[in-house]
Amino acid sequence: MSDDIYREIILDHYRNPRNKGKIDNADVVIHDSNPLCGDQIDIYLKVVEGQIKDIKFDGKGCAISQASASMLTEMVMDKPLTTAKDISKDEVLENIGLTNLGPARIKCALLSLKVLKMGMVKYYSDKEPTTAEKMEKDSNLF
Ligand code: FES
Repeated sequence: MSDDIYREIILDHYRNPRNKGKIDNADVVIHDSNPLCGDQIDIYLKVVEGQIKDIKFDGKGCAISQASASMLTEMVMDKPLTTAKDISKDEVLENIGLTNLGPARIKCALLSLKVLKMGMVKYYSDKEPTTAEKMEKDSNLF
């Protein structure tokens, strides 16, 4: 697909974000921002029997950060936590599809993945501390 098509997809997710909002009884709520620009993402997760039964995000910021969050929620909805925790930077960037992202824009695109990974560490730290420690070490986003 050409960059133009990806741009349209990003704008569509930015203007009509999927899974935007809050979950009242979320198992995990996690927040982070990009210190360079102040853009923010909150992620809410509802986990049932090891599966992401619901995920919502809230936030403000540039089109890439918000569209990427919207796309990420679609990638992990109804997936086992084990699948979601293994999502890589490359998969997210591939999903965004723009080939010419500079380092600053890459941070925009990966902000929601960073927040999701932080949420997973938080989730596991209560239940399986060794898994949480391993995730924190393994993750090259931290
Ligand atoms: Fe802040 Fe994109 S400009 S995340």
